[in-house]
Amino acid sequence: MFEILEKERIGPGVHRAVISAPEIARAHHPGQFIILRTHEDGERIPLTVADKDFDKGTITLVWQEVGVTTYYMGTMCVGDKLQDLCGPLGKPTHIEKFGTVVGIGGGIGVAPLYPITKGMHDAGNHVITIVGARTQGLLIMTEDMKKISDETLIATDDGSFGIHGFVTQVLQGIINKGTKIDLCVAIGPVPMMKAVVNVTRKADVRTVVSLNPIMVDGTGMCGACRVEVGGKTLFGCVDGPEFDGLEVDFDLLMKRLSMYKGPELIALNNFRETPRGCQCALPGGA
Ligand code: FAD
Ligand code: FES
Ligand code: MG
Repeated sequence: MFEILEKERIGPGVHRAVISAPEIARAHHPGQFIILRTHEDGERIPLTVADKDFDKGTITLVWQEVGVTTYYMGTMCVGDKLQDLCGPLGKPTHIEKFGTVVGIGGGIGVAPLYPITKGMHDAGNHVITIVGARTQGLLIMTEDMKKISDETLIATDDGSFGIHGFVTQVLQGIINKGTKIDLCVAIGPVPMMKAVVNVTRKADVRTVVSLNPIMVDGTGMCGACRVEVGGKTLFGCVDGPEFDGLEVDFDLLMKRLSMYKGPELIALNNFRETPRGCQCALPGGA
């Protein structure tokens, strides 16, 4: 159970792994996530189920190294086992035939956007995907996205690949052309989702965002994942992770996400100074 069956580096500090988890693969729907611990003393972190294979009983996780646990996972190898994996958690995405759906993925946000886009495409929507990153080397899953989208637009902030500009400028271009957008789904860094909503609000486009508050239990008991939506306090883990983007208090979310920055940085520095785990995935490895 929870054995890493495949693992590859798909970008700088970004990994994709296929994990044996038959029960989660059976029960999972797009938009849901898991909470894992890498080892007995490990902390709990949430990751979106980026893909699943019902027949093989596997799920795919894609993560970016940002701190101790995600760096630790980067050092794990094929054959290693995760200590535990809890899920699927959260409400599945509401998928139906809306018409034209624009999916926007920024940075690592492309991974959680993938199963939603696939679901929207399978439901018969005309799917336009915008994939963005700061620079070409940070673009992930563009070929995967092309396979499940009717149109895929790629943008980099520095113009090193695709359209030169932010995903919001690409979105504005689609709106300016007169395309009727029935739903926009945006997943990425909080400032990106906030900026997308600033565009869609003016164009009166319904917008769903997937929020990434700090989570601990993932079942609505600890309150760590509190977010404010439409003036109400909701729990990201059980009421979300998807919410009406036009109603989200993004500034509060950003503040709460940075609550433990100091201790997280100290923990990461300590981790880097202590060689451990399987090292095959360190620079140059898988
Ligand atoms: P740390 O140094 O501990 O933290 C770095 C930053 O990550 C923190 O400042 C904080 O903003 C955030 N963070 C820390 N701990 C948690 C926590 N327990 N829960 C949530 N955020 C935390 N990342 C991916 O790369 N791929 C995904 O598919 C993905 N899906 C997610 C789905 C959901 C529903 C949520 C809530 C988050 C998701 N994340 C995803 C973010 C991921 O959980 C964090 O990057 C990870 O927890 C960081 O842990 P760390 O120990 O490596 O870094
Ligand atoms: Fe504890 Fe949501 S993570 S209530
Ligand atoms: Mg951590």
